[in-house]
Amino acid sequence: MSSSPVLSPLFLRAANGEATERPPVWLMRQAGRILPQYRALRSRFPDFKAFVKTPEAAAEATIQPVDALGVDAAIIFSDILVVPEAMGLDYEMVEAKGPKFPKVIENRSDVAELTAGDRAAGRLDYVYEALRITKRELAGRVPLIGFAGAPWTILAYMVEGGGSKTFSKARRLLYTEPELAHALLEKITDTTIAYLKNQVAAGADLLQLFDSWAGELPPEHYRVFSTPYLNRICEALPEVPKTVFAKGAWFALEDLAGLPCQVLGLDWNMTPEFARKSSGGRKVLQGNLDPCALYGVTRSIERETTAMLRAFGGRHIANLGHGVYPDTPLDGVRAFVNAVKGFEY
Ligand code: CP3
Repeated sequence: MSSSPVLSPLFLRAANGEATERPPVWLMRQAGRILPQYRALRSRFPDFKAFVKTPEAAAEATIQPVDALGVDAAIIFSDILVVPEAMGLDYEMVEAKGPKFPKVIENRSDVAELTAGDRAAGRLDYVYEALRITKRELAGRVPLIGFAGAPWTILAYMVEGGGSKTFSKARRLLYTEPELAHALLEKITDTTIAYLKNQVAAGADLLQLFDSWAGELPPEHYRVFSTPYLNRICEALPEVPKTVFAKGAWFALEDLAGLPCQVLGLDWNMTPEFARKSSGGRKVLQGNLDPCALYGVTRSIERETTAMLRAFGGRHIANLGHGVYPDTPLDGVRAFVNAVKGFEY
């Protein structure tokens, strides 16, 4: 198989810290939330999981935003929860509510029973196949992002059994059973490394780690229960650039800047100046427009976006501060993408 050259590698050049004529742009959760063509594709499946496990459909959902919006990168259509499932904790995606795990992790024997590493990652062939198909169909138009949840965020789902307002069960565990928490984080980390290695072999050009519940932890716990595992994952994958997106973790930016990754993703709760300073100028920064800005009129979206690009001023990948919300008007998304594409440093 000949590997097709990436014709427009703006995104990868930026991720590697090279100077670019403008920042590249993509949106977290761009696949599967906002496009009418996605909803048409989704309606062919009884549920989200059946969709995710059909590689041809996942590849189509991945490419839709590249065609419809002209973004500079594709992100593979999947979910962070395929990892706990592969480890032996099944989940359901409840319509309009979100994920639900019928069984949760409560004690040592629950952790001992989990499958981990290559054996667990071997159950995710449908993701690798989706990456291979996507890579072939993209034919080098834009780079392809692979991803996984960060160990702390995956632990949070495995212990809570779903989303939560407080994540108090998961946070409590860190005080009451720290050794159990570490044993679980180790298993998740081993699995995530094997999984991401397979994603790279299947064609992922860059990897993003989503630590969506980072902001739930006090700084000292983040330092003990998240950063070391992120570090292990980044170290194990020298082949491609890596992005760490730790939502709500402004307090950890200095530590995160020490990770062997190239890019730090930022939420909208900090100024670009603060992020630049906290990360010591050591990383490319990705973000961080408030997703709600896209509900505004075109002129205000252009103004907000341009102000953000100026404030970051280079070594920047334009994105929102979290995933695009499902009811965002497409015109707003287009105004954002076009404002970035029309910008010059
Ligand atoms: O970025 C992309 O567009 C690629 C696909 C992607 C999905 N989930 C598809 C999805 C990605 C990158 C994710 C990551 C993900 N999943 C995260 C981390 C990013 C973040 O938002 O913080 C988290 C926390 C999850 C867990 C998850 N999956 C939840 C809480 C939900 C329910 C609510 C929601 O986000 O829609 C999901 C379901 C999900 N994942 C859907 C999609 C398209 C909707 C399912 C449906 O069609 O019914």
